[in-house]
Amino acid sequence: MIREIITCIRSHIGDRVLGIRLSAEAMVPDGATGEEMLEVCQQLESDGDLTYFSFVLGSASTLGGSTHIVPPMEMPADYAMPAITKLTSALSLPVIVTGRINQPQTAERILCAKEADLCGMTRALIADPDMPAKAITGASDKIRVCIACNQACTGHGLLGFPISCIQYPESGRERTLGVKTRTESPRRVVIVGGGPAGLKAGAVVAERGHSVTLYEKTRRLGGQVLLAQLLPSRLEFGGLIDNLHRECLHAGVEIVTGTEVTPELVAAEPPDALVIATGATPYVPDLPGADEAHVVTAWQVLSGAVTVGASVVIADWRSDWIGLGLAEQLAAAGSRVRLCVNGTHAGETLQQYVRDALVARIHHLGVEVTPYARLVGVDQDTVYFQHTASNDPILLEKVDTLVLACGHQSDTQLETALKSYAGELQVIGDCLAPRTAEEAVYEGLKIGREL
Ligand SMILES: Cc1cc2nc3c(=O)[nH]c(=O)nc-3n(C[C@H](O)[C@H](O)[C@H](O)COP(=O)(O)O)c2cc1C
Ligand code: SF4
Repeated sequence: MIREIITCIRSHIGDRVLGIRLSAEAMVPDGATGEEMLEVCQQLESDGDLTYFSFVLGSASTLGGSTHIVPPMEMPADYAMPAITKLTSALSLPVIVTGRINQPQTAERILCAKEADLCGMTRALIADPDMPAKAITGASDKIRVCIACNQACTGHGLLGFPISCIQYPESGRERTLGVKTRTESPRRVVIVGGGPAGLKAGAVVAERGHSVTLYEKTRRLGGQVLLAQLLPSRLEFGGLIDNLHRECLHAGVEIVTGTEVTPELVAAEPPDALVIATGATPYVPDLPGADEAHVVTAWQVLSGAVTVGASVVIADWRSDWIGLGLAEQLAAAGSRVRLCVNGTHAGETLQQYVRDALVARIHHLGVEVTPYARLVGVDQDTVYFQHTASNDPILLEKVDTLVLACGHQSDTQLETALKSYAGELQVIGDCLAPRTAEEAVYEGLKIGREL
């Protein structure tokens, strides 16, 4: 069928360029193998109607195969090339390759090794539309590298929203939020908090010509991203902070770490405007029986502050990366892990490809998942849930440790302490309402444009 379609198109378009995008390997059981695809491509090539091939990996026929359509960060940059080059080396037509090529250096390696004639870089250009210009002018170190989180690009697209980027919310909003006017009356702006919201606000405010000082109370910038990047296969998420930090430095933001902003500090040198982006802390529910049980938070486990027992229950109220990632980490370390999610399924709030790659891994590790589970209590060796649809009790017995992944609560301490502050005061990110890094960066941009 595909041969007839191509021949028919060719008969209508004369000698115009005609290419086809194909999956070099379906990556699903019983799906097309590399050898079979080579045969298909050789036939298509010998028909003489095509100008080029465009190769990716994966198949939409299963959820597992679909994860390769827009591969998440656990699939290393360049990972598709070994499978694809088996085809390209045996074909004569020009070849485009796509899949986790996120930096010009990687594309250059592929082209120099003659593994392809052209590299497709989809998310790399959503994250940084200036990437080609920066590469050509020798400014590669200024490129905002895509971290393959899939949150705002394909994540938005699959939900029916316009696409964007969590690191660069200007993408897809070029005519509105992409426009940044330089200020005619520079002000002194203090940003409190060096997480995603504060860093983005700092970079944008400084880019517009204001004088900006950003305070972070700990020694390291990053906020919750420092923890998020510790989840299995999520190290690249930390690139969000590297990119925003560099943008702050480039825009001239003065960064002061290891200094807590207090009302006294503000009073000593009042800024024209103050942006509070102090983030959030773990939400710990008032849980009957918690005193007699071993109850810890996800943050404590991730930071290594506590150890867990051999039998662990994770109460996952958000159905996101944290519950799933901790389940993977603890099961891989040898614990029996039961993951109880409030939602209809584990990872319910995640982009599909990210969710399914994670679900596949916890399935391999034997994690037991209970959906529709609302945490109601705990005692020495039992955790009590209620089924959110039937209201029936769910009892999980022989438990050593209960890990709470119950979301976050805003850190409003500074905002409260500055209630009588007379100057302009803005609150953004999780400090306003706990959500994700995407909303934090978006609000940083919005406030950065408005100040
Ligand atoms: C927002 C978005 C929309 C996409 N739409 C299509 C599409 O319509 N057809 C297609 O073949 N691939 C589509 N893709 C997949 C990309 O072409 C590409 O194969 C994939 O993102 C992996 O490449 P990358 O790592 O350079 O992003 C889309 C990807 C994204 C992020
Ligand atoms: S949202 Fe994430 S995956 Fe999508 S372009 Fe931005 S950094 Fe890349």
